[in-house]
Amino acid sequence: MSEQQVWKRKSTFIFAAAGSAIGLGNLWKFPYMVGENGGGAFVLIYLFCVLLVGLPIMMSESIVGKYSKGNAIDAIGITALRSNASQWWKGTAVIGMISMFFILSFYSVVAGWAFDYTYHFAAGNFAEKSVDEIGAFFGGLLADPQRLIMWHTIFMILTALIISRGAKAGIEKSLGIMIPVLFVLLLSIVVYSMAATGKFSQTVDYMFSADFSKITPIVVINALGQAFFSLSLGMCVIMTYAAYMRPDVSITESSAYITLLDTGMALLAGLAIFPIVFANDMSVGSGPGLLFVTLSTAFAQLGTVGTVLGVAFFFLVILAAVSSSISMVEPFVKWCEERLKVNRTAATFIYCAVVWAMGLVTVFSFNLWKEVDVMGTGKTPFDLIDFVTSSVILPLGGLLIALYVGWGLSPKISREQLFKLNGFFFALWLLIVRFIAPILILIVFISSILGEEKMTEVVNSIVAFFN
Ligand code: TRP
Repeated sequence: MSEQQVWKRKSTFIFAAAGSAIGLGNLWKFPYMVGENGGGAFVLIYLFCVLLVGLPIMMSESIVGKYSKGNAIDAIGITALRSNASQWWKGTAVIGMISMFFILSFYSVVAGWAFDYTYHFAAGNFAEKSVDEIGAFFGGLLADPQRLIMWHTIFMILTALIISRGAKAGIEKSLGIMIPVLFVLLLSIVVYSMAATGKFSQTVDYMFSADFSKITPIVVINALGQAFFSLSLGMCVIMTYAAYMRPDVSITESSAYITLLDTGMALLAGLAIFPIVFANDMSVGSGPGLLFVTLSTAFAQLGTVGTVLGVAFFFLVILAAVSSSISMVEPFVKWCEERLKVNRTAATFIYCAVVWAMGLVTVFSFNLWKEVDVMGTGKTPFDLIDFVTSSVILPLGGLLIALYVGWGLSPKISREQLFKLNGFFFALWLLIVRFIAPILILIVFISSILGEEKMTEVVNSIVAFFN
């Protein structure tokens, strides 16, 4: 790998990985997960999962990527060779890339909703609208394939343009700007909603004082799954970005910063949204509609200020989604470039075109194919893609990475890569990667397949057994 392919600044790896991590998972999903899973109790367990499973696995992916400097498949291949481990571990990266393809196909469509909202807020179309009217607006958006396809297309082209400029120019330059802008915008919305609603203490109380009676097995499982999705783990995305890391940058420190930034951004999203929800007597548990219906209604009622806030907020959602979507294109493009020796721009546009076409399945799942029930699962094609990728393949990828780095990879390599960790913390990290993380992930994995009700039953019978 040429000198040119190493990121210039020390901070770039942190920005790039944080850009991947911070996305719809933080701004859209985290607040409604908090609302649906008992507030402070969920936040507490989420933080615990991030620290105990997320951070160690992020370090694991970074070790493999930084050591071998190549695309994720070869990164595992090279480290496995040097560790006398099986080449089959490469399958981990292959699985990651396949699921990334499917996740990106619907991620782009959802990001398109944010485009539509930004546009309509800017046009003043939301002013003075009621909850019902905005609910109907959301329904109208989903029912209109042409509108969805238009935004989906714009989003994919934007992603492709950034990636085709190369990891160095494209990612390094864009993210150095995007993350700080994102942070400042979100922070101003937090300050505004705290100041304007006077719900500061209620919000802080809601998010940070845990009612332990609300901690159920399902809350724990949801928190772990959310930690995984939010930190972009399990698909060799972090591994790919770590390949561009400068040799003198510490994996431990970078991973800690990325985790901190991602978690901070999720908490800020909560702090921005909940005061508005409380001030308007809205329900915290309204699910995925929290961002697109509830929050928009609150903005709509604020007159001109609301228009500005609405545009700013949904623009922020787009920025966050773009910096995540580019991380789902880079791993495959890097592999094409290195292995198939194809031109970066060509690889990017062909790949994005295929993802775009796949995205149409998601688009039609909300309208033309709304009634389609795939193989009697009761799910639309989109529901099925979302379920299989997010709930099955993602945890599986994370499990494989933990097992590979814990058991396949030579500890000599990880010891050398984690040069900043002292003996005790290295041993602790190894213990987590070998045992604790795989066991926890396995629980999530099984639970996502069994479904919530079944899992509660299983957990209750285990608890009953020990009593
Ligand atoms: N973490 C991103 C978010 O919170 C989504 C994402 C980007 C992702 N790349 C990923 C999730 C890789 C899992 C794996 O929105």
